[in-house]
Amino acid sequence: MAATATTTSLEDVPSLDIMTELLRRFKCSSKPDKRLILIGPPGSGKGTQSPIIKDEYCLCHLATGDMLRAAVAAKTPLGIKAKETMEKGELVSDDLVVGIIDEAMKKPSCQKGFILDGFPRTVEQAQKLDEMLQKQGTKIDKVLDFAIDDSILEERITGRWIHAASGRSYHTKFAPPKVPGIDDVTGEPLMQRKDDTAEVLKSRLQAFHKQTKPVIDYYNTKGVVATLPAEKPPKEVTAEVQKVLSS
Ligand code: AP5
Repeated sequence: MAATATTTSLEDVPSLDIMTELLRRFKCSSKPDKRLILIGPPGSGKGTQSPIIKDEYCLCHLATGDMLRAAVAAKTPLGIKAKETMEKGELVSDDLVVGIIDEAMKKPSCQKGFILDGFPRTVEQAQKLDEMLQKQGTKIDKVLDFAIDDSILEERITGRWIHAASGRSYHTKFAPPKVPGIDDVTGEPLMQRKDDTAEVLKSRLQAFHKQTKPVIDYYNTKGVVATLPAEKPPKEVTAEVQKVLSS
């Protein structure tokens, strides 16, 4: 189903919303541009830290997993191609994801830079990204490597519940919603991802070690990788991220 564009007249927008947006834009105007990549295995905390970094530095958050899941839910040609591969925990083709990132980076919300979450996941994707950025006269500023032992990840993945519409993520033990199974903000039901099972996690980890770890080496040669202790509690990881990004 194609998305329908809605246009709203400024007169219909509440004054408080306009003021809040103006204040946000004013705050953002003094922030430095940043182009970031978050790399780590499934459940390492990329999606948890991204919204915090996004708000702090006024960046857009481009998560290929979220974009692909939206395409699957909407049954677009892209979603139909990606569905089976994702459910098995394997990587979809480089061409598909490079195309969606190329398009997404043109959004006005990416004007001050972006957070790439879950992309690039292969060295070929990294090379294509470099080519795209070179054409724009820019480059990646920092790669945040969420380092964590595989043994910690099953509990994180199988306990995760998400609010599909917003992408808000909870955990039964580490970040529980106020009411079990219900989104704190909208009161709507939470759901579990199809690939968030112990069984599929094995393939996802295999793909990470074989295809994505080399991406960290690729950026290491460029001297832009910062390794984070992702096994620490969320707030401590946030503090580590802030330390790296403010240096
Ligand atoms: P994607 O959606 O990118 O999944 P992923 O990389 O496997 O990452 P996750 O979203 O599972 O983990 P996360 O690190 O964001 O963890 P979170 O912060 O939520 O990809 C899915 C699929 O799409 C792929 O398998 C592939 O098929 C396809 N795909 C996507 N991009 C692709 C690409 N570029 N190329 C090819 N294919 C692609 O945390 C997890 C849980 O732990 C949460 O419940 C959270 O509350 C909790 N938690 C987080 N941090 C902490 C902490 N510090 N302490 C305790 N609990 C924590």
